[in-house]
Amino acid sequence: MPSIGDIQLPDFPLLLAPMEDVSDPPFRALCKEQGADVVYTEFISSEGLIRDAAKSVMKLDIYEKERPVGIQIFGANLDSMLRSVEIVEKSNPDIIDINFGCPVKKVVSKGAGAGILKDIDLMVSLTKAMVNHTKLPVTVKTRLGWDHDSIKIVEVAERLQDVGCKSIAIHGRTRAQMYKGNADWKPIAAVKNNPRMHIPVFGNGDVDSPEAAKRMRDDYGLDGAMIGRASIGYPWFFKEVKHYFETGTHLAPPTMQERVTAAKRHLQMAIDWKGEKLGVFETRRHYTNYFKGIPNFKEYRMKMVTSDDSADVFAAFEEALAVFGDYEFSL
Ligand SMILES: Cc1cc2nc3c(=O)[nH]c(=O)nc-3n(C[C@H](O)[C@H](O)[C@H](O)COP(=O)(O)O)c2cc1C
Repeated sequence: MPSIGDIQLPDFPLLLAPMEDVSDPPFRALCKEQGADVVYTEFISSEGLIRDAAKSVMKLDIYEKERPVGIQIFGANLDSMLRSVEIVEKSNPDIIDINFGCPVKKVVSKGAGAGILKDIDLMVSLTKAMVNHTKLPVTVKTRLGWDHDSIKIVEVAERLQDVGCKSIAIHGRTRAQMYKGNADWKPIAAVKNNPRMHIPVFGNGDVDSPEAAKRMRDDYGLDGAMIGRASIGYPWFFKEVKHYFETGTHLAPPTMQERVTAAKRHLQMAIDWKGEKLGVFETRRHYTNYFKGIPNFKEYRMKMVTSDDSADVFAAFEEALAVFGDYEFSL
């Protein structure tokens, strides 16, 4: 069974990926209830944390019910990263995760996120300094490399392990690929197959079905799967994968009633946590998936995603339930 430091995990754990504006406390709570074994916060800027920027500080909120939970931070400046480790520790997470994979320009141009893949020595020395600065397990999430010609992930992972990194999650794309093409799990398997590796190697990228998770486990031999987009608006994904592992069959998809209940709870928790305006706005991206596959649903979805007033959105959920309550979702 894999473990992250002293945190014991089940066989082939399923991890909720850190996702900006998605992996917030309400969504993490839903995923945890549906079987996610480890959850991560959205990435948090180390520079924002040390400036005490409200948006960054708010992202530090974690709750007992979601443990084990990792707080993910990004940055490229040693001093800022170390100071943010001290700030993060006050929230008492189970894990501190370093984002060495974010491909967006505003992050990369400062040498942070996937930008650090151009300077592996810095990546390793930053990790080492952070490991030595905290008693919490430090983990890394990264990509295969900067571009196709510079993939050195086997060597990079080993060096990170040697400086005390406790697990590594690898997205099977390079920075140059952004989100294009298919994730390649072969280089991740090569990391796992390195006989010197003993920390868990988690695969990430395109795990979008129970079958895909099984392939990652059985054909690629990885220690667990980190799941991002497949969970957006579909927290049941974790439970469905586990059911498939246990029985070889597919769990029946959630009913309309279950979907509406989850969407309502999600919205209410989001409003409670970040207020009406942001709560209504940021939960919108989940509705497409909550109600995916229902024919002629556009009218209802439009109501859910256009009003700034939560009362309208709650009313749209009820209307949709009244009309589509008997809809049979296909697998
Ligand atoms: C909306 C969105 C936000 C993301 N934000 C983060 C982030 O904050 N930190 C991070 O390490 N990766 C982030 N990612 C990348 C995901 O964690 C994951 O690596 C990627 O989506 C591939 O996995 P998937 O195919 O399961 O979605 C984000 C992805 C999406 C779609």
